[in-house]
Amino acid sequence: MIKVLFVCLGNICRSPMAQFVFQHMVDEAGLSDKFEIDSAGTERYNEINHAGIHYGTKDILREMKVPFNEHYSRQIRKADYEHFDYILAMDQSNVEDIQAIVGFDNKHKIHRLLDFASVPRDIKDPWYTGNFDETYWDIVDGAQSFLKWLKDNNFY
Ligand code: 4NP
Repeated sequence: MIKVLFVCLGNICRSPMAQFVFQHMVDEAGLSDKFEIDSAGTERYNEINHAGIHYGTKDILREMKVPFNEHYSRQIRKADYEHFDYILAMDQSNVEDIQAIVGFDNKHKIHRLLDFASVPRDIKDPWYTGNFDETYWDIVDGAQSFLKWLKDNNFY
């Protein structure tokens, strides 16, 4: 079982989008039983407010025919670092915030999602840009690149 946790700041826009886009790719590839996929945020604010997925993320997932369930924001915990094999952040500030919570990344589990893409980069936050389309296509690029990297390295 390959356990993947997608992480952003609020866990309502980018990381749930990545969770459901990647889950859909895995399902379509017939690999569902090989993966456990979840998402979390680095800040607690949305967990305290029991915030669900942002409507902008829901709208683009519906438009692109990516199935999703409701997901309630939760903050990443130290135990997540032990449980998951890959902790995939959306941007560099997420990486630093994750490290502040889980401690030193001695097992090299923490990466940016787009570090697996041909052009490594941050995924912009649509909470601030309002551009859910751009975020969606960056996430598709990252999810495809990560799945290919796992295959090329014989992890499935
Ligand atoms: P996300 O976007 O990290 O992609 O989920 C944000 C969502 C909420 C907030 C910030 C970023 N917020 O400040 O509540």
